[in-house]
Amino acid sequence: MPSTSAVVLTAWTAVLLYVFGHYILRKRESRRRNPEGLPYAPGPRQLPFIGSLLDMPRSKSALTYITWKERYGPLTWVVPTGTPHLIVNDYEMMKELFEKRGNIYVNRPKRHIMAALIGAFGVGTPLTQYGPTWRQHRRFLNRALMAPVVKRDYSPVMTRKTLVFLKTLLDRPDDFLIQNKKMMAEMITEIAYGATGDDEDGGHDYVEMQMEMGEITIGVVQGYWVDFLPWMVHIPTWFPFTQWKRDALRWNKEYNFSRDYVFNAVKRKLVSDNLHFSAPFCELTTKDLTARHKRGRNAAFFPGADSVIRLTESLVRTFMLAMSLYPEVQARVRAEVDAVIGPDRFPNIDDRGVDKMPYLEATVLECLRWHPPAQSLIPHLPLTDDAYRGYFIPEGTYVLGNAWQVSRDTRYYADPSTFYPDRFLVADEKQQRLSFNRSVLNPWDFAYGFGRRICPGRELAVQGAWIAVAFILWGFEVKTKGGRTMKDGYKATDEERFNFAFVS
Ligand code: HEM
Repeated sequence: MPSTSAVVLTAWTAVLLYVFGHYILRKRESRRRNPEGLPYAPGPRQLPFIGSLLDMPRSKSALTYITWKERYGPLTWVVPTGTPHLIVNDYEMMKELFEKRGNIYVNRPKRHIMAALIGAFGVGTPLTQYGPTWRQHRRFLNRALMAPVVKRDYSPVMTRKTLVFLKTLLDRPDDFLIQNKKMMAEMITEIAYGATGDDEDGGHDYVEMQMEMGEITIGVVQGYWVDFLPWMVHIPTWFPFTQWKRDALRWNKEYNFSRDYVFNAVKRKLVSDNLHFSAPFCELTTKDLTARHKRGRNAAFFPGADSVIRLTESLVRTFMLAMSLYPEVQARVRAEVDAVIGPDRFPNIDDRGVDKMPYLEATVLECLRWHPPAQSLIPHLPLTDDAYRGYFIPEGTYVLGNAWQVSRDTRYYADPSTFYPDRFLVADEKQQRLSFNRSVLNPWDFAYGFGRRICPGRELAVQGAWIAVAFILWGFEVKTKGGRTMKDGYKATDEERFNFAFVS
C-alpha cells in the first residue's frame, strides 16, 4: 500500500502537470490568435478571479468612461470576471470600428443571464445575435421604418396622440412626465400593433403592458451582478440579498404574459378579419407572425416596442428642460413657429424642414446632442479576433461606444454643456435664410449608434419628437415652477440636470 506522502506527492504532481499543461495550451492558443503578440488596450488593473469587476460603474457609466479616457486614452480595456470590454471614447474610432469594420463588429452578447431568467432574451432585435433571424428583423424594420413610410403613414396617429397629450397638459400640467411617456407609448404601440387596447377581451391595455415591459427590459440591459458572476444564478431565492432573483421570477410571468397576450390578440383579430390595419408596420408584423405561426415557429417576433418608448420620450423631456432653462431660445423658436404656422391652424408634418423652420430643426437636433438618450449605446461584439491601432481585440469583446463623450467633445462642440441650437446653423447668403452648417458634427451620426446595428427607428423617433415639440411651442409656454432658469444658476451643470441612466 503506498504511503500517505507518496499519494500527496502524486496528487501534487498531477495538479502541477495540469496547471502547466493548461498554461502551455493557453499560450499556444494565444500565439495562434494573436501571432504578433499585440497587447490589449490600457485599462484598470485586474485582480485574480474578479478582474476589474470593482472598477465597473454601477451607475452613471458614461461619466466613469470619460474619466477612463483621461487616465488611459480613448480606448480602455476592462475585464470584469473574464468578460472583456473595450470602451471607445472617440467618435472617429467608433466610426472606424462599427462602420468601416461593420461586418466584424455586428454581434451582440451571447449570454445575458438576467434576460434569460426573465425569458426576455433574444426576443427583441437589439439583443438578437447576428444570424438569419436578425437579418430578417432588419429587412422588415428597414422597410417599415423608412423615412417616406414614416412620414406618409405614421403622421396621422402621431398627430392624434399629440393632441390628446396637449389636452391633458392643459388640464394637468404637473402630470407632464407621465403623460409624455404615455403619449409616446400610445404612438409606438398603435403603430406597431394597430391598436392600443383590447376592448373585446377583458379590456387589456397594451400601452400599460408595453410600458411595464419597457421598464423590465431597460433594467435588464443595464446589467446585474449576476451577469458578471454567473454562479450567482444558483443561489436559492430564500437566501439574503436575492431580491434580484425574486424580481426576475416575478417579471418572467409578467413579461411573457404581456408579450404573448398582445401577439395573440393581434393574431385573433387577423383570423377573425377584425383587424383594420392602421399602418404597414402592423400589417407586416402580422403577416410575419402568421407565416411563422404556420411554420410552427415561435410567434413572438416584434422587435421590442417596449424599450424604445423610453428612448423616444426622453427627447421630449429634454426639450421641456431646455425650454425652461433657456427662455431666450424658447422665445426665438416660438416666434418662428408663430410666423410660419400662425394661430389659425395646427402644425403638421409638411411644415417640417430646415427650409421652413430652421431654428426648430436645430432645436430638435440640439436636444439629441445636449442629452443623447442612449449614452453608452449597446455593445457591438466582433465576430472574429481583430487588431486595431496596435491593440488586440478578441472575438466576443463587448465593444461599447460612449455617445455622451462625443456630445461633450470640444473638438466638435464649443461650450458643449450649453443648449445652443445656433451651433447647427449658418447663414445661406444665396437663399437669404439659415441652413444647416455641414461642418458641425450632426448628432444623428452618433446618438443612434453605428454601422449595421444602427437604430432602425431613428426617423420614427425624430418625427414623433418633432410633432410633439411643434405642438407644444404652438400652444404653450414652458417654465419651471417658480420660473427659475439657468441665469439663476438653476440646474447649471450636466450632473444636476441628467440622471445618466441607461436610458437617461
Ligand atoms: C430618440 C429615440 C431613440 C434613440 C436615441 C435610439 C437609439 C438607439 C441606439 C443607440 C441603438 C443601438 C445602435 C447600435 O448598436 O449601434 C438602437 C437600436 C435599436 N433601436 Fe433605437 N433609438 C430610438 C428610438 C427607436 C424607435 C422609435 C425604434 C422602433 C420603432 C427603435 C428601434 C431600435 C431597434 C430595433 C434597435 C436594435 C437594432 C439592432 O440591434 O440591429 N429605436 N437605438
